[in-house]
Amino acid sequence: MVSGEVMGSLWASRWFVISLFGVYWALWIAYARLFHSYARYPGPFLASVSRLWIVKEIFQGRAHKTQAELHRKYGPIIRIAPNEVAISDPASIKEIYSVNSGFTKTDFYTPWRPSFARFPDHFTSTDEKVHGLRRKIVNNIYSMSSIVQSEPLIDKCTELFMTRMAEMAERRALVNLSTWVQWYAFDVIGELYFSSMFGFMAESKDVRDYIGSLDTLLPVLCAASVMPSYARAPFLASGLLFRSIRKALKALGNIEEASASCVRGRAQSKEMDGIRSDILGKLSGICEAKGDQHNFNVTDIQTEVYTGLFAGSDTTAAALSSILYHLMNNPDVYQRLTDEIDEMSAVGKLSSPRIRYAEAQQLPYLVACCKEGMRMHPSVGLTLPRVVPPGGCQIAGQWFPGGLRVGVNAAVVHFDKAIFGEDADQYNPDRWLREDAVNMDRYMFQFGGGSRTCIGKNISLCEIHKLVPELLRSYELKLARPEDGFRTMNHWFNKPLPLLAHIKKREVKGI
Ligand code: HEM
Repeated sequence: MVSGEVMGSLWASRWFVISLFGVYWALWIAYARLFHSYARYPGPFLASVSRLWIVKEIFQGRAHKTQAELHRKYGPIIRIAPNEVAISDPASIKEIYSVNSGFTKTDFYTPWRPSFARFPDHFTSTDEKVHGLRRKIVNNIYSMSSIVQSEPLIDKCTELFMTRMAEMAERRALVNLSTWVQWYAFDVIGELYFSSMFGFMAESKDVRDYIGSLDTLLPVLCAASVMPSYARAPFLASGLLFRSIRKALKALGNIEEASASCVRGRAQSKEMDGIRSDILGKLSGICEAKGDQHNFNVTDIQTEVYTGLFAGSDTTAAALSSILYHLMNNPDVYQRLTDEIDEMSAVGKLSSPRIRYAEAQQLPYLVACCKEGMRMHPSVGLTLPRVVPPGGCQIAGQWFPGGLRVGVNAAVVHFDKAIFGEDADQYNPDRWLREDAVNMDRYMFQFGGGSRTCIGKNISLCEIHKLVPELLRSYELKLARPEDGFRTMNHWFNKPLPLLAHIKKREVKGI
């Protein structure tokens, strides 16, 4: 039997611990609010004292909207965590992200790293020197000249996409464009990397639940990424009690296994002829020719493939969905673009059946519409967080001490009126035909910047500029539910929700 004295001392120690915790928090709040270098920057109270605020924002999937509202309310620098600010001044893009700026990626990125990687993959690498050396080994593979050599591989996917559109037009079915462009983008990654589509379009379904896996994984991984690093392991471990988090972690395993099995499949394949031109073939070529020199082996190939699987479909699909949504939502623009495509087709400047990337580049209004779609909706919807270099730095006219975190969000900066004009909030592809287009281009941030600019940018640009005119040349698309607007869920990739459209075959002479 426990004596009254023991019970009393247990209660006393419990109160002692609670009081200690209370005092710690009171002191921390006073420090964070009054003495921290970021104390002078405005923002929500909770954000200034705890990362709980940003975790909540991530789970709600609307961080870009909240950030834009906070900038409107408080100005160009807002505090989004005790040691992190978001900056909306467009000039800060150059200051933070240009090559040799000295800023490094924060530990936001580390939870995204595949467990098997020998070296950090390009996306998650926080050491600029290691990143530069590893990226240099493969950079050429992703150049536009290399990607256009692989256009026939993209064309195979476009062929199947158009067949599926034809079937739906024939059946007068509603087409969910956001899903179909994601299946297309995933199959393009399969074709470009392994000369073999994954089967999304062939089977008209989410093959092996890859997309479901990514959808489950992203909110969990993204929430873990914005937590303090000490809270991540307990969060993920305690999450094992919840089915959705167990599913998310299993999903990560699925994506890792998918990249391993694709690489294994090729290693076992006897027929190398004709598949040297895909990305896996080119990576194997590097491995054979300079593997020892660069310390680049089959595990590094697998890491490269994993990144492509992870980063290559949601992003491209979000861009394509936004471009198509805004076209359908603006019938005058849609008509003007269709006229441009028809005129160029009629004089033989757009090949048939498949439009080449170089030809698409000659259509100024098409290029303007693609750019404007990506301006209105950048596929990555959070700040790209960076650590200020040790000696501190001047950004947006303010001094930032070394070691603190800063970031710019494309979904905020793309709407800056000083750069994009008074109509920056509105969709207007004509802005890209104006004289100041070159200047605006400098502030387009959808692919990031400097040494960390998206490595897959050319893959996506090639896909986008080929698919959009192809689709509009052959089909008439109309929003089925215009009243829904363009709805998205932002968990790093700002992913469009279902985008339903009516589709009808066009009769165009000369094609
Ligand atoms: C429209 C399509 C795409 C968009 C908007 C996009 C956006 C971005 C952004 C904003 C970054 C910078 C991240 C940061 O600095 O924190 C990035 C980096 C990256 N992206 Fe993309 N991406 C797209 C397509 C792709 C594709 C198709 C691939 C691969 C096949 C890819 C692979 C990567 C990789 C590996 C990085 C890290 C690069 C580095 O730090 O060296 N992305 N992307």
